[in-house]
Amino acid sequence: MTVAITPTGIRFEKMTAAIGARVHGIALDEQATPQVVQTLREGLHQHGVLLFEFGKRVEEEQFKNFSHLFGEVEPVYGFSTKKEDPTAKQPDASYMDAVRQPLRQYRTNMWHSDGTPFERPPQAAMLTPVEAPELGGGTMWSSMYAAYEDLSSHYQRLLEGLTVLHSTMRTPFVKQQTQTTHPAIIRDPVTGKKALFVNSIYSERFLDMSERESDSLMRFLFEHVNTPEFHVGVTWRAGIVAVWEERVTQHRAVDSFVGPRKLRRLTFKGVTPSA
Ligand SMILES: [Fe+2]
Repeated sequence: MTVAITPTGIRFEKMTAAIGARVHGIALDEQATPQVVQTLREGLHQHGVLLFEFGKRVEEEQFKNFSHLFGEVEPVYGFSTKKEDPTAKQPDASYMDAVRQPLRQYRTNMWHSDGTPFERPPQAAMLTPVEAPELGGGTMWSSMYAAYEDLSSHYQRLLEGLTVLHSTMRTPFVKQQTQTTHPAIIRDPVTGKKALFVNSIYSERFLDMSERESDSLMRFLFEHVNTPEFHVGVTWRAGIVAVWEERVTQHRAVDSFVGPRKLRRLTFKGVTPSA
């Protein structure tokens, strides 16, 4: 069934077989009951990405209020960036602005989960356009449930025993370099499903194997995440809000657009991912 109607009246309309659902039956300024909150949060873990279409631009206060449905907001998203000129203003972490943070330079056009070099990466994130590009410039997500399930049992078993070093080595614009380790395969606490937790920006290498073995396995997994059958995308328009579960998805921007591209962003506090 592509549309699931829940007892709260919220409907999840699947966008692809693997990932993503459009959500119907909730207003932007709704005072949600605990049942609605629970339905939305379960839907987020199940579908990986939820899209809401409110028809007109979502303002800052509305965005903040709506975020309460999904968890506790992180005051500032993890990384502050280096600036040659110390008097220059830091890019505001509450926006993804393609003028201040060019997509290729900031590597936001590579598949990743946010903040995995931290012990507690964000659990989820939320975006809405302030200025949507005239053309292109969408965001894509890849299902890490699908990425895990599509592997043969041999690869699944191999990865389940492995630990990955995540670092900011490939993001030299980050002011304070940081690193940590996470299991290669994690289990979502809500759905109980397993997900691949290796990404092409922050996952540096597998522990307890040779560099050659690790590089080869990493390369294979980065290509695997890029399988179209695991993907869903959005073209930004005023009034669209996307919320995604960071642990069971990866995302990337598409650096092909015309006009300004400025998105309002926030992230939700997470716990340490576990196998
Ligand atoms: Fe990101």
